[in-house]
Amino acid sequence: SPIIHRTVDDLRSAVSDWRRDGLRIGMVPTMGALHSGHLELVRAARERADRIIVSIFVNPTQFAPTEDFGSYPRTETSDVAKLAELGVEAVFAPNANEMYPTGYSTTVSLAGPAIGLETDFRPHFFSGVATVVSKLLIAAFPDVAMFGEKDYQQLMVVRQMARDLRLPTEIVGLPTIREADGLALSSRNAYLSAEERQAATTISRVMRHAADAIRADGDAEAALAEGRATLTAAGFRVDYLVLRNAETLAEIVDIANEPRRMLAAAWLGKTRLIDNIAV
Ligand code: PAJ
Repeated sequence: SPIIHRTVDDLRSAVSDWRRDGLRIGMVPTMGALHSGHLELVRAARERADRIIVSIFVNPTQFAPTEDFGSYPRTETSDVAKLAELGVEAVFAPNANEMYPTGYSTTVSLAGPAIGLETDFRPHFFSGVATVVSKLLIAAFPDVAMFGEKDYQQLMVVRQMARDLRLPTEIVGLPTIREADGLALSSRNAYLSAEERQAATTISRVMRHAADAIRADGDAEAALAEGRATLTAAGFRVDYLVLRNAETLAEIVDIANEPRRMLAAAWLGKTRLIDNIAV
């Protein structure tokens, strides 16, 4: 079973023992409620590191007051059991005060890939993410840290931050794990009613259809407008369905010659789903 560390000091002393033995360290930051998407990140870490730290911390600073911080699933015991099966050596599960001591006043501010998309709807989200990820990476200084493409903009923001802060950690992005019907795995899928779960498959279907259309005729705006209409008809409230430069997330200027990523965020009832695919 993994050793559970509750404080940065405890984690650091485990890490320094490993370092002394010359071991490579991998980290997988999560908010818990672990599903197969998270577990794939752990398996990928195993291929790149001798010791794995999985952090489980529902980070308050990335939730707005109106969002689901209070109801976000917290399942530490079963999470730790899943990680034990994969041979994970350490879990870092601090409480909020350990990460944000009373009076803390230092955060990470961002531009570049953090501008637009999620930020238009969740203005403080990436500052919260970047602050906690920088604190986690600084606590352990892992050789490698794994992130999912499921949260594509987050992956780009974390990459940019690691580069800008010269963090000594390689940031690895891994493909989105999906249900058989295409829905991207997410801890928030647990919020969906049976009927919403059926409708939720529309989001990946619409994106694949729009991506095919764009590849066929290059008319992104027509394909995306049709996609938004299909989502709305299926009961979604669409925050965005857009095509962006896959590396910078800037708007596409020259569609034939830029790497392309389609990104979507949409509400189904009280649940906000995000997804993205290469085009
Ligand atoms: P969380 O939503 O728990 O996700 C943890 C990691 O798992 C992220 O890198 C996310 O992209 C990845 N992930 C989630 N669903 C996935 C899927 N279906 N396929 C592949 N990877 C998937 O993202 C966060 O937590 C937080 O913002 C965090 C980075 C931990 C900072 O608090």
